[in-house]
Amino acid sequence: MSPAGLAPHDPVRSPDAGPTRPVGGALPAPDADVVAEPGPLLTTGHRADVFVLDDHTVLRRYRSGEDASAEVEVLRHVSGHGFPAPAVFAAQGPDLVMERLHGPTLLQALAAGEVSLPDGAAILLDLHERLHAVPAPGAARAGDVVVHLDIHPGNVVLSEARGPSLVDWASARAGTAALDVAVTSLLLGEVAVDADGDYSKGARALLAAFATRSPVSPLETLEEAVAARSACPSRLPEEIALIGQAAALVRELMRVSH
Ligand SMILES: Nc1ncnc2c1ncn2[C@@H]1O[C@H](COP(=O)(O)OP(=O)(O)O)[C@@H](O)[C@H]1O
Ligand SMILES: [Mg+2]
Repeated sequence: MSPAGLAPHDPVRSPDAGPTRPVGGALPAPDADVVAEPGPLLTTGHRADVFVLDDHTVLRRYRSGEDASAEVEVLRHVSGHGFPAPAVFAAQGPDLVMERLHGPTLLQALAAGEVSLPDGAAILLDLHERLHAVPAPGAARAGDVVVHLDIHPGNVVLSEARGPSLVDWASARAGTAALDVAVTSLLLGEVAVDADGDYSKGARALLAAFATRSPVSPLETLEEAVAARSACPSRLPEEIALIGQAAALVRELMRVSH
């Protein structure tokens, strides 16, 4: 699954979040550089590289140098509500030092046939339901919950210790559950409508199972999700076309299921 882009960066920010934010009084000390010399590269994502620090700890570093400190707040908040996400130990500038999750991503497990498509959809649905039980922090609108806005199989790590856990909180903010469901549907749909993509067929089946079983309809805020995903300034015209096709696929799958 390689969704072409990401939802707009609009994380939940705490007004008192400084540039350096040690969390939980833990390791390592957040000095001038959180980690000057990272260990071996574990993996790379769309925007960040993840390095091994030791068996329990990784460093996630934005390649662009953008600031990651706001993600600490939302990670602390959801973890405090028992949601499965890595514990954060330190943050500064583009660096986050956090708990290392051991296990494949849901994308890797699906590709290897270790997890079936219905089970993959069930994992995505369960993470949505659990996340949307977490109230938004601070002065959010009444009824708002925490939304991640980038829930897809590449951002779910099947942790041996914690079970399915969500990483990559760059886009998280306060919002409605329906928007997360719509964004995930689009992310899956964009892979499904990419005719040349390796995961096109699997993504379509995953989308069908996810969207039609979700207790919250993806149609409620589909237009808002399309606008949010299309608004990114670096978006190419062909990517915007895929988003539109993905929305049409979501509507079609919902229509035939009812
Ligand atoms: N705490 C973690 N422990 C182990 N692996 C992680 C952790 N956080 C991220 N990863 C791995 O690194 C990849 C990239 O991280 P992610 O936060 O998704 O960055 P990007 O924004 O570049 O997609 C993830 O898909 C996952 O495989
Ligand atoms: Mg990611």
